[in-house]
Amino acid sequence: MGNQQQHPIGIFDSGLGGITVLRALYRQLPQESIIYFADTARLPYGDRSPEELIQYVREILTWMEAQGVKMVVMACNTSSAIALDVIRSEFKTPVLGLILPGARGAVSQGKRIGVIATQATVNSGAYQNAILEASPEAAVWQMPCPEFVPLIEANRINDPHTKRIVQKRLQPLLEQGIDTLVYGCTHYRHLSGVIQSILPSHVTCVDPAEYVVNATEQELELMGWKNPQPPLPTRFAVSGCPDQFAQSAKGWLGYQPLVEQVDLKTLTVNSSPLSITNG
Ligand code: DGL
Repeated sequence: MGNQQQHPIGIFDSGLGGITVLRALYRQLPQESIIYFADTARLPYGDRSPEELIQYVREILTWMEAQGVKMVVMACNTSSAIALDVIRSEFKTPVLGLILPGARGAVSQGKRIGVIATQATVNSGAYQNAILEASPEAAVWQMPCPEFVPLIEANRINDPHTKRIVQKRLQPLLEQGIDTLVYGCTHYRHLSGVIQSILPSHVTCVDPAEYVVNATEQELELMGWKNPQPPLPTRFAVSGCPDQFAQSAKGWLGYQPLVEQVDLKTLTVNSSPLSITNG
């Protein structure tokens, strides 16, 4: 594979959720260059079938490899739950998913574990299986929250309606007496202010993003692939509208990114002339 150290890490999500993983990477691995891909033309992933999701992730990995990434981190639980095993068997590039690191993180925090996730992730049972494998005496309750991603993508975090929906989704988990809550979708961490205003203080929140970044660091060390040089600016690409993503991402990043549009089918890239960057 040649000298991989200075190659970027590729991360992807359906939309804005992966920014929670990006921020964890910035904190823990600030020297790494990163390519962020958001499949905004096909969002939300949570309603998609396993066949569709596997095909989307296949296309994203093909594009990522063409960009010369040294490693891919799935910044999307739905893709990790459905597509990780198939994709690992098809591509040479190391690929990390969120489920196993997230499940290990959860059992290190508590025994009565609630998981909020997309419908597709809940249907896969991936978190439940991984948590019970890591700790057979744990109890797990899953809750699909299909309203959350559209509300986050529409920037409706602070709407009273959003708080009511979050309350409704958390209530059944709270009735089970959970001591731990897993953000089983990367978007949901953007709602942490609302979620924590509803949760009793004895419930610990677990963000799998923190744990997948630990796993990424270990993998880079193992391979001798940590970047010794200063990083390049993060490269952002989307399958939908670049300007819309640039505008929405700005609030979460603190700067307006330059965003390219990628057609995954033809692997062509058009830069957005309207976006500016200072990051
Ligand atoms: N943020 C993704 C996840 O972690 C996908 C959410 C969606 O598009 O439904 O599952």
